[in-house]
Amino acid sequence: MIKYMFLLFISLLLFVSCNDSSNVKEKVNNPEAMALDTYKPGFGEFMTNVQIHHAKLWFAGKYQNWALADFELNEISETIDAIKKYQQERPETKVLSILNPAMDSVRVSIRQQDQKLFVKSFTDLTNTCNACHQSVKFGFNVVKIPDTPPFSNQDFSVKQKAAR
Ligand code: HEC
Repeated sequence: MIKYMFLLFISLLLFVSCNDSSNVKEKVNNPEAMALDTYKPGFGEFMTNVQIHHAKLWFAGKYQNWALADFELNEISETIDAIKKYQQERPETKVLSILNPAMDSVRVSIRQQDQKLFVKSFTDLTNTCNACHQSVKFGFNVVKIPDTPPFSNQDFSVKQKAAR
C-alpha cells in the first residue's frame, strides 16, 4: 500500500514539473504571453502623467502660449488613449469619455486663442476630473487649478516667434 502511495506521489510530482516546463515553453513560443509579463504603467501612474500636463496646460494658457497649450492638451489626450489601451480591465476606463466635452471646449479656446473661454473650459475640465474621481470612489484625489508652475526649469511664457 505504502509502495503504491509512494508511486502515486512520484507521478504527481512528475506531472506537476512537466506541466511547469511546458508552461515556460508555451510562453517562449507565444510572444503575447511574454508581453503580458512585461511592465505596463498602472492607472495611477498614467494619472500622474495627466496631472503634470494638466498643470502645464494651465500655465501655457495663462501666458497665452497657444502652441504650448495645444501640445499639452494633446499630451493629456495621448495619455487618456494609453489608459484605454493598457488599462482595459479597469472599470473606471469606461468612464474616461466624460472628459470629452471639456477637452473639446479647451481645444476650441486654444484654436480661437480665446483666453476667457480657456479659463472657463479649463475650470470645467478640472471639475470633470474631480467628478470622475468622486464617482469611482477616488474622491480623495482632488485636483485644482495650480497656483505655481509644476517645474521651475520650464519657461511657459516664451513663445516661438512666428515664422516670417
Ligand atoms: C475615469 C475617471 C477619471 C477621470 C476622468 C480622471 N481621473 Fe484621475 N484618477 C482616476 C482613478 C481611478 C484614479 C486612481 C488610480 C489608481 O488606482 O491609482 C485617479 C488618480 C488620479 C490622481 C492621483 C495619482 C497618484 O497616483 O498620485 C491624480 C493626480 C489624478 N487622477 C488627476 C486627474 C486629472 C488632472 C484629471 C482630469 C484631467 C483626471 N484625473 C481625470 C480616475 C479618473
